[in-house]
Amino acid sequence: IQNSRLEFLARKIYHYPSIGSTNDEAKKLAQNGAPHGTLVIAEEQTGGKGRLGRRWVSPPRKGIWLSIILRPSLEPYQAPRITMTCAVAAAKAIRKVTGIDCRIKWPNDLLVKGKKVAGILTEMSADMDSINFVVTGIGINVNNTNFPKEIIETATSLKLASGKNVDRLKILTEFLSQFEVVYRCLEDGEFGKVLEEWRQLSCNLGKRVRIIGRNYELEGLALDVDGNGALLVKTNEGTVERVLSGDVSLRE
Ligand code: ATP
Ligand code: BTN
Repeated sequence: IQNSRLEFLARKIYHYPSIGSTNDEAKKLAQNGAPHGTLVIAEEQTGGKGRLGRRWVSPPRKGIWLSIILRPSLEPYQAPRITMTCAVAAAKAIRKVTGIDCRIKWPNDLLVKGKKVAGILTEMSADMDSINFVVTGIGINVNNTNFPKEIIETATSLKLASGKNVDRLKILTEFLSQFEVVYRCLEDGEFGKVLEEWRQLSCNLGKRVRIIGRNYELEGLALDVDGNGALLVKTNEGTVERVLSGDVSLRE
């Protein structure tokens, strides 16, 4: 996958000093017709969200808190591909700019040395058989040096990992150009290339995992991820389960 200049991404940019959640704002803008590729970015989020309504800590100017509006030609069930695209683009950007060994934790996190440095939240507006729009939001901890008590053990930033300040703009521009390239593969029927990069960057494949769902738990070996973002887990009983990212968490 070659690098290139931006063609559709960030043609339109909404930049806020402070906002509740860039994902919520992007959904509003998308509802009102904002075009494919619109970028919504904030210096601070006062109501940053993770999956399952959890809180995403987004202090002023410490990280990159952004959302992208997409109008992809995908079926609704293929939407997890967008999260995978975003994860590959962000991991590559972080690795390229900082040299840090950043890895993808299925389904929506980026880790450095086992700690969470970024998270992705993809939301979709769709009916039974077509996508109206997708908003993919990513939060990257860049220069955070202290985290609230609840996440002090599990969170990290590029600064904490590298021991020096990291230029947010460099990460942002590299992320956007990577995103364009990877996204184009997705639209051009070459998602296989993205999948292969995802596999190379993953920290779960070939390892034992525990999947925690709303009312079940599953343990086994993470064999692979499929083209629609599902994790294939070989259980201790020898069966292979296909786990959708929906409402589950993964533990090692
Ligand atoms: P898991 O369930 O394994 O913790 P997850 O991806 O399912 O991971 P989410 O449901 O996406 O977690 O929720 C986000 C979680 O990320 C929050 O519960 C919180 O623990 C953590 N978190 C919040 N803000 C940050 C941040 N800035 N950096 C790292 N972690 C954060
Ligand atoms: C997660 O790990 O749960 C995903 C966190 C996603 C955070 C980003 S920050 C920009 C965008 N706006 C939000 O409210 N959430 C996402």
